[in-house]
Amino acid sequence: MKSRYCIVGATRGTGLLIAQQLLQSGVRVRVVVRNIENARRILGDRVEVIQGDVTDARSVREALAEDDKAIFFTVAATGGIDGRALFGSPTAIREVTYQGLLNVVEAARSRCFTGRVILASVVGVDRSSVMIRLLDKIKPGLQQNLMERERYLRTSGLDYTIARAPILINAPAGKRNIQITRAISKLTAGSKISRGDFARVMILASQQTAASGKTFEMFAAKGEAPSDEQLLKQLEAIPPSPELR
Ligand SMILES: NC(=O)c1ccc[n+]([C@@H]2O[C@H](COP(=O)([O-])OP(=O)(O)OC[C@H]3O[C@@H](n4cnc5c(N)ncnc54)[C@H](OP(=O)(O)O)[C@@H]3O)[C@@H](O)[C@H]2O)c1
Repeated sequence: MKSRYCIVGATRGTGLLIAQQLLQSGVRVRVVVRNIENARRILGDRVEVIQGDVTDARSVREALAEDDKAIFFTVAATGGIDGRALFGSPTAIREVTYQGLLNVVEAARSRCFTGRVILASVVGVDRSSVMIRLLDKIKPGLQQNLMERERYLRTSGLDYTIARAPILINAPAGKRNIQITRAISKLTAGSKISRGDFARVMILASQQTAASGKTFEMFAAKGEAPSDEQLLKQLEAIPPSPELR
């Protein structure tokens, strides 16, 4: 049985939390990173560390393995509201956001990968909103690239789950209720979830048949943190994504 998970973009933020949560649950973890020494320093020696830059198709082809249960794509060209390199050039954003995912999917296909690709995306990416317009001003072309990469993954022939989050913050995980909904909302400034909760939901989605071929959005809600069973029920209620939008 497949029991190893691969994370592309695991040296920071959500990808790092996915790696740490998976390690805590006792499964094997493999990370594809730009800087091996940095990754070893951050993640220790329980993780298999492979060099790969998503903008370099050859390095990604060499880095991926066919027998992982899932590949998480949590790469970001620029940071979020917590300040790291908030601005980005259109070229860098295109190369990392769109072409980066494309390189990973093509590499997975060329390796006959049969697991699931879990893509971290953004709430309301296919809808017009003040927040999306603002993000697109700061990070030119971001919305188009995010939409195109979702569409690309849906039609890639690979098993996938697209998990869309609102604005991410570094608050502790497990403190808030989480609501998983169909992908129909607009991005607003007020809606935020912790990266740890986003990581938890993506891991759960990677292990459940109910999340196969689906796109969903998640939000913080009033109340206590949900159990895995409660989250799973919400995932089951999400309809499969349309193949083309
Ligand atoms: N930030 C938000 O508010 C927000 C909201 C919704 C969804 N998302 C999505 O959630 C995901 C995670 O976001 P985050 O803010 O948690 O991430 P983050 O902290 O910005 O971390 C990004 C990761 O991507 C890696 N990376 C960047 N360029 C790379 C490249 N060319 N090749 C390989 N790895 C590369 C970075 O590695 P290095 O250490 O080498 O730089 C880092 O590990 C992203 O896909 C983002 O689109 C973010």
